[in-house]
Amino acid sequence: MNPWTLRDLERNDIPRILEIERVSFLTPWTEEMFRTQLRFRDRAVTLVLVEDGVITGYTAAWIAADEMHLLSIAVSPAERRAGRGSALLEALLERGKARGCERTLLEVRETNEGARRLYRLHGFREIGKRRGYYADTGEDAVIMEHRRGE
Ligand SMILES: CC(C)(COP(=O)(O)OP(=O)(O)OC[C@H]1O[C@@H](n2cnc3c(N)ncnc32)[C@H](O)[C@@H]1OP(=O)(O)O)[C@@H](O)C(=O)NCCC(=O)NCCS
Repeated sequence: MNPWTLRDLERNDIPRILEIERVSFLTPWTEEMFRTQLRFRDRAVTLVLVEDGVITGYTAAWIAADEMHLLSIAVSPAERRAGRGSALLEALLERGKARGCERTLLEVRETNEGARRLYRLHGFREIGKRRGYYADTGEDAVIMEHRRGE
């Protein structure tokens, strides 16, 4: 059995989430962005993965009508490649399904081969590109889509 559990983000989790965020992304989310996720619980989903009382990963999404948009997913560097990203992604897709979402969309940096592979393994398909999407490097984003039931 996996040594972790998944649950919704709580206010007190934010400092730990920010630690993971800062070592995972070139342009990390701010505290305010996570607070916004909590403020709009009717439209936002933010899940954390916890083991021995410590958060080692999280994912955040936004739901609009029957569509979910995956905004972010990260696992603490020392804990990667052991199924945590997959567990977070599957739990998020389940949550979307329970909320009536027909599809989930996301953008990923073109050079982020690891994440693109993870998404493909979980049924996402690459459906297009957004040119110069990332303001920090000017990199293109690949748009990926997951349809309910796939
Ligand atoms: C992307 C991320 C969340 C994956 O988390 P993880 O816990 O390592 O994911 P998993 O262990 O569930 O990976 C499942 C599969 O995805 C693929 N994969 C994941 N990371 C990979 C990598 N760095 N390189 C190649 N394949 C990778 C592999 O096929 C892996 O299976 P394997 O380990 O048996 O080969 C993690 O690498 C991370 O936090 N990265 C920094 C933040 C980021 O880039 N987020 C995505 C933004 S769009």
